[in-house]
Amino acid sequence: KTEKVLSILKLQPVVPVLIVDDAKSAVDLAKALVAGGLRAIEITLRTPAALDAIKAVAAEVEGANVGAGTILNSKDYEAAVKAGSTFIVSPGVAPSVLAAAKDSAVPLLPGTATPSEVMTLREAGYDVMKFFPAEQAGGAAMLKAWSSPLAGTFFCPTGGISLKNAKDYLSLPNVVCVGGSWVAPKELVAAGDWAGITKLASEAFALKG
Ligand code: 3PG
Repeated sequence: KTEKVLSILKLQPVVPVLIVDDAKSAVDLAKALVAGGLRAIEITLRTPAALDAIKAVAAEVEGANVGAGTILNSKDYEAAVKAGSTFIVSPGVAPSVLAAAKDSAVPLLPGTATPSEVMTLREAGYDVMKFFPAEQAGGAAMLKAWSSPLAGTFFCPTGGISLKNAKDYLSLPNVVCVGGSWVAPKELVAAGDWAGITKLASEAFALKG
């Protein structure tokens, strides 16, 4: 499963984190992101439209790998898998989420912000994790400090990352990719400016070293 999640995260340097209000615009948004090279897309379960949006993107957007974010319990996990998610992202670690992941073919990217959480997840068999909220929890300097004592663990930092600071993370040996909402700003989505989103996605994709 580690390999499964790694192969998805390695598709691109930036995983867009989306909060979507309706399934139709989520499809257009996902198409715009894929056109810019960002094929792995996380739709957060924070709106009533999220599950329908995952279903629609999975069915209609060619080349997209749609994952579900903000998974807080096993019920969310199961619903997200049923909707067609190819990966699951959680802001932290919870026993019910780990149990759901164990029973599922769809891999989990669990969240961590401390060495103890990293160690707990290592014991549960994970070596790829989200670092959340990245900027607030210590930023690139924190991950750099973890790279030697917690060697062999790889991260997708998310939270407070943008084009400005993404390289600070991407240049670290223990970072696979970063996550962020900056590639899908609310204003552009509301205006249906899909060309503008594709441009942001292309800029993000170009961060690939
Ligand atoms: C979130 O909390 O919505 C995600 O982690 C993305 O964070 P960001 O909006 O700071 O990129």
